[in-house]
Order: sequence, then structure tokens, then C-alpha cells
Amino acid sequence: MERERMTLQVGLIGAGRIGRLHAHNIAAEPRCRLAAVADPLPEAAERLAGACGAAVRTPAEILDDEAIGAILIASPTDTHAELIEAGVRAGKAVFCEKPVDLALTRARACLRAVAETEGAQPVMIGFNRRFDPHFAALKAAFDAGEIGRGTLLSIVSFDPAPPPPAYVRSSGGLFRDMSIHDFDIACWIFGALPESVSATGSCLVDPAIGAEGDIDTAVITLRLADGRIATIRNSRRASYGYDQRLELLGEGGLLAVENVPENMLRKAGTQGVVGARPEHFFLERYHRSYAIAWERFVDSVLQDTPVPVSLADGVNALAIAEAAACALETGRAEALP
Ligand SMILES: NC(=O)c1ccc[n+]([C@@H]2O[C@H](COP(=O)([O-])OP(=O)(O)OC[C@H]3O[C@@H](n4cnc5c(N)ncnc54)[C@H](O)[C@@H]3O)[C@@H](O)[C@H]2O)c1
Repeated sequence: MERERMTLQVGLIGAGRIGRLHAHNIAAEPRCRLAAVADPLPEAAERLAGACGAAVRTPAEILDDEAIGAILIASPTDTHAELIEAGVRAGKAVFCEKPVDLALTRARACLRAVAETEGAQPVMIGFNRRFDPHFAALKAAFDAGEIGRGTLLSIVSFDPAPPPPAYVRSSGGLFRDMSIHDFDIACWIFGALPESVSATGSCLVDPAIGAEGDIDTAVITLRLADGRIATIRNSRRASYGYDQRLELLGEGGLLAVENVPENMLRKAGTQGVVGARPEHFFLERYHRSYAIAWERFVDSVLQDTPVPVSLADGVNALAIAEAAACALETGRAEALP
């Protein structure tokens, strides 16, 4: 109760693309105060801290500050595991962007380290799509039994345009960086992990991605122990915008989430009917989900309840990504332990 009345002081680590969005959500949440921002690029840290009334600090200074109760990690993926461990050691609640790490062994070591830290505060992974109101409505309808047993989940996730090759290099590749959201959504909707993963993929969009050893087009199939199936189709290009659709077939019907258009205008003419394109990219399409994810994290910290997306969820999604990478290499279904 005492905790609920407190203002949660937050330190943000990483002031890039997603860090900037989180900073504004933290500043807009009435129960929080963005106390400090850290980024090795002084200009990025200063501009963001200035815009949000926060101080510029180093990550070490944030961790040492006893008044700061939570950190949000939005730095590059290869810094996540170390910062999560340092955060829990310093007694902070941790919200960390996906994925937990580039390597499953490191992510598992991080999970163990957190479990062994006495009095560790909660760690939540930023799988924001679970908090998208449209996806959440599908999950709620499914959980309420509206289509009975779900048998076949189909996920479409196409980016509007490929990222620069330098991003591909540091991101861990399509499965760890992009498909990982879909792996988490599949496990969350079915409430179970797959038993095996098959994958096929190609480089069809940008040869520079192929030159980095990655693919930009993929189809992944997850199979659960009881036979339920999820298919995931990914592309780094969709000329008409960010294509994000879900479809869940069950014994009693179908639940589907369509794309969210930029506006609701529909023009009918002699040539046909035309509507607006889907919202451009993740910052637009999922903007509410990031704010809701942060609110749920703050609820958990202040009310001392479990976070809705755990560090283990983050490790599970990374395990599927690694299995998909093996399946792509071998051409065979890869079993998950
Ligand atoms: N949930 C989502 O939808 C989503 C979307 C985009 C990115 N992400 C994740 O967020 C992370 C950051 O991605 P981004 O697109 O914002 O990258 P970015 O390159 O735009 O920003 C990263 C920032 O971190 C800073 N930085 C580098 N090393 C640091 C360190 N040791 N400590 C503090 N700051 C450091 C960089 O200077 C940069 O400003 C990645 O792990 C990515 O996978 C998640």
C-alpha cells in the first residue's frame, strides 16, 4: 500500500529509436518520474533528458542511485544480459527490450543469475505486442472459449522496408530480431511452448542482407506436443506498409485481427474500392502497446505482483529463434528441449 503511493523513479539506458519512445511513455505515466538517461552518445542523451526533464548520467551512476527504483534497458541487444544482471544486483526492477541476448546460452545464464540473486526485483521483457488492444482482444476471446479449442494460428508480419545492413549485423538476424515477437505471440496465445520448429527462408528483398549472412523472407512452423500448429510468415518488405495480421482457427470458428489503417476513409469508384494503407511501421502501429506494457510493469512493481512477461518468456522465445536458425540450416524440424 505504501509502495502504491510512491513515485517510481526510473533510469533509462539507451536513448535511440525505442529509448526515445519509452522515455515519453515513462514521463507520461503519472506514477513515474524519468530521473535519468544514459547513452554513450552525449547528444542523444542530452536531447532526450532535456525534453523529459531528466538528468544525464552513466549507466553505473543510475545503478548506484538508491532513489532510482527501476531501469528501462533500451540499448543494443548485446548489452541486455549484462545490464539485467547489474540491475537486479543493484536492487532495481528491470524492464528490458527484446531480445534478452543474441545467444541462448548467455540468456540462460542471465536467467540463472537473476534467480540466484537474493531479493531480486522483477524483470520484464518488452514483448509489447501482447499489449496491443487488438491482439489482446483476440487472446481474451480465445481464453473465454469463444472458438473452443484453437488448432491453427497464422501470423503475418511484414516490415514496410528492410533495415540498413549495419542494423542486420548487430541485430542477431531475422529470427532473433524480428520473428522473435511472433514466437512470443504464438506461445502466449496457445499458452504452451512448441515441441518442434521448421523453417525455410531466402534473401529476396535486399542482397545487402544476404551479404551479411541473413535472410529477409521466411516461413516458420511451430508444432506443439498435442499437434496444434502455428505458422509465421515474415518479410522485410511490404510495399503497401506494415502488414500485421493474426488468425486463429478453432473448433467453433475463427478469430482474426486485420491491419489497422492510417485512416478510415474508403473511396468507392467505378474501378473498385480503395482504403488507406496499414499504419506505417511499429512506432505507429504499436504505439499504444508500448504505453500499456509500461503501465503493466509499473502496476507489478508498485503492487508487488508478477510481471506479465517474464525473463523466462524472453529466454523461451530466443530458444525458438535458435531452433529456427538450426532448422533453416539443416532443412529438418528442430526439436525444442
Ligand atoms: N519492442 C520493440 O518493438 C522494439 C523495437 C525496436 C527496437 N527494439 C530493441 O531495442 C533495442 C534498441 O534498439 P533501437 O532500434 O532503439 O536501437 P538504436 O541504435 O536506435 O538505439 C540504441 C541506443 O543505445 C545507445 N547505446 C549503445 N551502447 C550503450 C550502452 N552500453 N549503454 C547505454 N546506451 C547505449 C546507442 O548510442 C543508441 O543511442 C534493441 O535490442 C532492439 O531489439 C525493440
